[in-house]
Amino acid sequence: MKSLINISMTLLAASLAASVFTGCGPSGNKPNVELIQDMMESPAIKSQEYDESAPNHAGMRVPPEGTQPQGFVPYKYTDAVAAAANQNPLAGQYTEEVLKTGTKYYTIHCSICHGANGQGGEQQSVAQTMALKPPVLTSDKIKGWTDGQIYHVITMGQGMMGPYASHIPQKYRWQVVNYIRHLQGKGN
Ligand code: HEC
Repeated sequence: MKSLINISMTLLAASLAASVFTGCGPSGNKPNVELIQDMMESPAIKSQEYDESAPNHAGMRVPPEGTQPQGFVPYKYTDAVAAAANQNPLAGQYTEEVLKTGTKYYTIHCSICHGANGQGGEQQSVAQTMALKPPVLTSDKIKGWTDGQIYHVITMGQGMMGPYASHIPQKYRWQVVNYIRHLQGKGN
């Protein structure tokens, strides 16, 4: 009799343990059972969380003023005239790799206004209602500009055209300049 009770106790314990453990795995649609809660609920504030202690209660902190991403080179030219001196590190390079990157960013961000071949905005549907048609980029005027001047317009914008600094990462901007040179007939 005693051994029977022992066996049934053992069975009960085993089935209890089994039901607890099957509850923690990804079993169908059942929610997880948290056995060790601290490991799932970390005290660290997650990015989109409310944070009682932050001045604006946002979990995400604003980086201190002047913070720069690693490898970022601050742009020091404030006007197009000074920017003419900015040297293109890829000057004269029209390799497949350079042009491929240039084509990519030009096609995504510039062609909609300046045309796939830099022929200007007259024919572009987006420019139909624009008072100032996006200029031709294969003009003698732009051919006469330095690479630094074109880079400046991409980075800072010009008049009616907004800046594209946040759209085209620094390390790909000179490739766009080279692609415009390519459209102008260079390196063909
Ligand atoms: C929303 C339309 C639009 C887009 C997109 C656009 N531009 Fe422009 N761009 C213009 C307009 C309009 C002007 C003339 C602005 C002015 O002088 O007031 C201009 C001017 C320029 C100029 C100077 C041309 C000149 O003759 O003075 C260059 C160079 C240029 N853009 C390059 C680019 C490049 C490179 C891109 C892509 C990164 C780009 N633009 C994207 C509308 C656009």
